[in-house]
Amino acid sequence: MVTETTTRSIPLADVVVDEELLAAAHEALASGWWSTGPRVETFEAACAEFFGVEHAVAVSNGTAALHLALLACECGPGDEVVLPSLTFVAAANVVRHAGAVPVFCDIRGPEDLNLDPEDAEAAVGPRTKALLLLHYGGFPCDMDAVTAIAERHGLVLIEDAAHAPGSTWRGRMCGTLGRVGCFSFFSNKNLPVGEGGLCVTNDDDVAERLRHLRSHGMTSLTWDRHRGHAHAYDVVAPGFNYRLDEVRAAVGLVQLGRLEERNAARARIVERYRERLGGVEGLVFPFSEASPDEVYAHHLAAVLLPEGVGRPGVQEAMRSRGVQTSVHYPPIHHFSAYADAPTRPLPATEDVAGRLLSLPLYPHMTEDDVEGVGEALVTALARTGSAAR
Ligand SMILES: Cc1ncc(COP(=O)(O)O)c(C=O)c1O
Repeated sequence: MVTETTTRSIPLADVVVDEELLAAAHEALASGWWSTGPRVETFEAACAEFFGVEHAVAVSNGTAALHLALLACECGPGDEVVLPSLTFVAAANVVRHAGAVPVFCDIRGPEDLNLDPEDAEAAVGPRTKALLLLHYGGFPCDMDAVTAIAERHGLVLIEDAAHAPGSTWRGRMCGTLGRVGCFSFFSNKNLPVGEGGLCVTNDDDVAERLRHLRSHGMTSLTWDRHRGHAHAYDVVAPGFNYRLDEVRAAVGLVQLGRLEERNAARARIVERYRERLGGVEGLVFPFSEASPDEVYAHHLAAVLLPEGVGRPGVQEAMRSRGVQTSVHYPPIHHFSAYADAPTRPLPATEDVAGRLLSLPLYPHMTEDDVEGVGEALVTALARTGSAAR
């Protein structure tokens, strides 16, 4: 059963609610054990197998995953973390919560919205501890270049893989290419749960710190004590309550089993978009040079509007035709809270900032939906004076 969306209304993202999901949630609720327990353990084991890693640590959301990743890699006061400004603000927020300083780097350009390795290296200074990279829209950033930078400067690589569950780089899963990979299971993500997150790592010490920090720094969980695996606990660090609960883990397990098929459906829809809109003058589809040998999660259908087109007018015109759009992302250095961040010129980011537009994308979009979005965009561009064909 697909959730009903009103006719002519095409949301940015959408979820499917069916019997299997409802049954999984119901079973978890009916079990009477709701906080972290056996379903979280099963979900973590399934994630570790899917991503091919030693450790998968489930947490309450993607922001918590990023926060814990920084702390587990011992980023703190006195450290700087280099990250693109064109990412979700949570990445910079958690750097600050860790007591470190975010230093923004540029992207490569309109065709490649991932960080520019050359500029990232230029942003590295004596205090730089980590590079926190994003795989924009599910397209891996240049991991060869980024890994070489990390090795040259002794930096920790943390991957924000919130857009990239199932994406590969040279056949290896995004999220497993650095010290820690972080995922989000927010409702609009490829693996939607509502709220939820995950850290993956092959580093035993990092995994132990992640597990402690997600639950107050305690050395055992209530679940461990309930099933008699522990009777007492120590507190080894001032941690948090970033735990995932059983109902979400049960839903997550079902969604994990559907991820690859859903990613493939997203890829087909993006292809349809490219066919429908490829002839629109000045409209850019980033990442057109993606490799046929890799898998891409296609979290977003992001385009760049033709230069000089007023985005708010386009968004409003599309909205009036029932099509929701968004922007991924307003650059972080434009936000008031980051006005005092160390400034570096970010010309490629500035260049795309006003042109980015995310079109609706979810695995059960129909051809009619894609046509509706395409038509709404072309009409909006024509109205706003662009040379759309
Ligand atoms: C790139 C990126 N990083 C981090 C996050 C934070 O994840 P969450 O919303 O689960 O805290 C998101 C989700 O919105 C995201 O898109």
